[in-house]
Amino acid sequence: MGIVLFGGEKGGTGKTTLATNMAAMLALQGKDVLLLDTDRQGTASFWATVREDTEIEPRISCVQKFGKGLASQVRDLAERYDEVIVDAGGRDSMELRYALGVCDRAYIPVQPFQFDIWTIRQMDELVEMAQGLNEEMQAFIVLNRVSTNPAVREDRETREFFRTEDFQHLALVEPVLRDRIAFRKSARDGLSVPEWKLDKKAVEEMNQLFREVYGG
Ligand SMILES: Nc1ncnc2c1ncn2[C@@H]1O[C@H](COP(=O)(O)OP(=O)(O)O)[C@@H](O)[C@H]1O
Ligand SMILES: [Mg+2]
Repeated sequence: MGIVLFGGEKGGTGKTTLATNMAAMLALQGKDVLLLDTDRQGTASFWATVREDTEIEPRISCVQKFGKGLASQVRDLAERYDEVIVDAGGRDSMELRYALGVCDRAYIPVQPFQFDIWTIRQMDELVEMAQGLNEEMQAFIVLNRVSTNPAVREDRETREFFRTEDFQHLALVEPVLRDRIAFRKSARDGLSVPEWKLDKKAVEEMNQLFREVYGG
């Protein structure tokens, strides 16, 4: 059992995109995975419903949970599944805080063009607080929607910035996801990018991220 969180305080950064893709990719490996949607917008649940309605295999269990009891519920659920993936979002969300308290690893997607020091610094502090209770937890930043135009050097610039800022509780992972239609279109069909298949570069990026998060 493992609990991996995709979270962050900003909306629209890619939390659900990452969470749903990782869930499907684990399921494709034969893992019994639970996708836990703690975002009231319910985007992950919607994705799972589309998947269910179109009878896409493998089936993925998805439940919604909010509020106070979340931490203990996540722990209980983790006993019953190989892997639990938590999609936690929203500004000042209580769910994000609880999830940080129980997860093994947290991945925070950030878009280079939305990148702001203040938000990352806040996340760094939030992670520090969570590690006070959940000592083994590790938190990472994932760059998402990086420009596919090589002339735009967002990736390198963000990395350089990250090095100079030297956040204490956040590490920037090597794999990045670029801005690709495939990430949007596959989600609409209740699929992961590898199942959608039509964009090899997108599949490769998601595979690299998967290896980063789950090893192997
Ligand atoms: N790498 C990407 N390339 C293109 N579109 C993306 C990418 N990542 C996310 N999106 C799109 O951006 C929107 C917000 O992503 P989502 O995963 O729902 O964010 P969050 O869960 O953080 O609010 C969605 O329409 C999604 O399809
Ligand atoms: Mg979301």
